[in-house]
Amino acid sequence: MTTDNRSTLFSPLTLPTPDGTGLALRNRTILSPMCQYAVNRQDGVATDWHLQHYGAIAAGGFGLLTVESTGVSPVGRISPRDLGIYSDEQETAHWHLVSFIHSQGAAAAIQLNHAGGRASGKPWLPGVQGGSASIEDGGWQAVGMTDQSIAKGYRPTMKLDKAGIKQIISDFTAAAHRADDAGYDAIQIHAAHGYLLHQSLSPLVNTRTDEYGGSFENRSRLIYEVVDAVREAWPNSKPLGIRISATDWVEGGLAIETTAPLMRDLVKHHGINWVDVSSGGLVNTPLQPSGPGFHAILGAQMKQALADTDAVVSVVGGISSPEQAETMLRTHQVDAVSIGRAAMRNPHWSAMAAARLGVPREDNPAAPQYWRAEW
Ligand SMILES: Cc1cc2nc3c(=O)[nH]c(=O)nc-3n(C[C@H](O)[C@H](O)[C@H](O)COP(=O)(O)O)c2cc1C
Repeated sequence: MTTDNRSTLFSPLTLPTPDGTGLALRNRTILSPMCQYAVNRQDGVATDWHLQHYGAIAAGGFGLLTVESTGVSPVGRISPRDLGIYSDEQETAHWHLVSFIHSQGAAAAIQLNHAGGRASGKPWLPGVQGGSASIEDGGWQAVGMTDQSIAKGYRPTMKLDKAGIKQIISDFTAAAHRADDAGYDAIQIHAAHGYLLHQSLSPLVNTRTDEYGGSFENRSRLIYEVVDAVREAWPNSKPLGIRISATDWVEGGLAIETTAPLMRDLVKHHGINWVDVSSGGLVNTPLQPSGPGFHAILGAQMKQALADTDAVVSVVGGISSPEQAETMLRTHQVDAVSIGRAAMRNPHWSAMAAARLGVPREDNPAAPQYWRAEW
């Protein structure tokens, strides 16, 4: 517990790394990854939209920005308008994005994803209903752990054989190399929200009978293989993170009692340094909570499970009040907070929060150009 009245939210944080150097963050506000569906030519290349979106949030004082779900392969993208990191042109655009984020004093993480059966979705934009994008609209045949449709409105997937699974693991490896070359400071592996790694882990949808299905050990095999491959490709001087849906909110699905020990093993034995706690997204359920800080309890449970490790635990979900974020940190529920929609509403959320929490003006993380805004 901090014994003075200095803000914990605006105290520095180090994400640990295997080589012991660590990644120093100026504060504990993390931008949660949020798809922008702003790729123009269905080519996975970041555009001016991404630069202004992430640029404003970096200028707004965040410690770490997690760039949205980025496909490790064309078929792994959530929608035709998602970012990718499998071509030279994409890598160059990421490099520009990262350079600007760094110029504002923030660190940059990239969320690497394979959407599995939830790939080739329609971009979540006004007037667009969910489900698979048609082939005419740039959609494709999605691949997954089974040949079932993953959700209402999605086409049946093509079931991955072992060679297909190995290909995905090498796509993650190649993406990690490109992320390093683009200058990213951290990777977040997406194992949440109903995408491929979550589809593999959860008994609610993984009905395979080979070594990738059945027991928890088998269902977690793909996560271990991806984490090990990425850790191998990613420098030991850089932190590796994972976002997990800690529970499916459904009887018989994933629960914190199984996901927390999994994260613990990944931290202790497989080089994970940062766990970002979310939930759900695989199956619809009225039990999925919302409201202020709606995952706080899950975050605290994960933190407790990892208490004797050096991993950083962050939590996402309905955090928009600086005072609530401060309390979560002061009471050691988590080490950092991931801010999603509040950062879209106000890209300068971090600067605003610092002012509200009494951080002296000269220490406010806002860009110097905005000094006279008098936060
Ligand atoms: C427009 C939008 C896009 C999102 N895209 C992603 C994504 O790419 N990856 C991810 O893990 N979560 C994604 N999410 C979920 C957010 O990261 C976050 O977990 C969720 O919005 C809850 O946090 P919040 O209440 O702070 O917004 C998205 C959410 C929104 C609103």
